[in-house]
Amino acid sequence: MQRTDKVRLKSLGKEHGHVICYPVYREDEFSCRLKELEKLRIDAIEFVGKRMIDHLPVLGKGCVGIVVVAYIKDEKVALKIRRTDASRLTMEHEAQMLKKANAINVGPRLMMVTKNFLIMEYIEGTLFPEWIQAPNRKYFRSDLIRILKSILEQAWRLDRAKLDHGELSHAPKHIIIKLNNEPCLLDFETASESRNVSNVTSLCQYLFIGSSFAKILRRKLGGIKKTDLIKALKLYKMSLNRESFENVLKKCGIL
Ligand SMILES: Nc1ncnc2c1ncn2[C@@H]1O[C@H](COP(=O)(O)OP(=O)(O)OP(=O)(O)O)[C@@H](O)[C@H]1O
Ligand SMILES: [Mg+2]
Repeated sequence: MQRTDKVRLKSLGKEHGHVICYPVYREDEFSCRLKELEKLRIDAIEFVGKRMIDHLPVLGKGCVGIVVVAYIKDEKVALKIRRTDASRLTMEHEAQMLKKANAINVGPRLMMVTKNFLIMEYIEGTLFPEWIQAPNRKYFRSDLIRILKSILEQAWRLDRAKLDHGELSHAPKHIIIKLNNEPCLLDFETASESRNVSNVTSLCQYLFIGSSFAKILRRKLGGIKKTDLIKALKLYKMSLNRESFENVLKKCGIL
């Protein structure tokens, strides 16, 4: 019989409970959460991904949530599970932030939320650092420029909407490149509407100025002068207007 990592809801046992109730498993909590998943019409959970919980692979493991692949009928979705030790009492905050982002065409589409779970569109793709370093990937310079422009345009829309993502200055796990080369920003858990926005500046910091990934990108693009870009970002930060944003794009060599 072919081995499958897809487990139907009714077949989930204590070993899977350690993922659903991470890091502290309790039988009563597990059975409450299973009922919640049933109400959400989740049919199965698939244990795949690069992070591990005990011996089970998952897509992501953060401070607030664990992300796994799940299915509603045949539709593949991303299921974010509230950790039992999370500083948040519900998933409502992330849902609200993601909803605001979705309104300006940013982020995976929010589908449903309950106290302990958030269901969103599953984004098939590759995280940006892996995408760029995949040895057999064939892409043109124009593809890379289009991806970078789209990422920064999304950040610009977030800035305009006064929604600060909060984790874009170090974003190796927060930009996924879809199969059609369209980038998608992930994880609105730490997003805020009350902080000063710094989506464009943080992303430029990560993509072009101060990370090991920035070094790779600068080498691939060529011609980026860090000091000029930093000056342009300072001006942008003061005005947050389109003209100064486009000046940033020019200094990144993508306009
Ligand atoms: N909608 C999605 N589609 C596909 N993969 C996703 C999706 N959301 C998250 N992932 C994967 O899971 C990883 C972790 O996601 P995310 O940062 O949202 O959660 P987390 O780090 O587990 O939790 P948190 O940061 O909220 O505590 C991502 O880097 C990505 O690989
Ligand atoms: Mg995260």
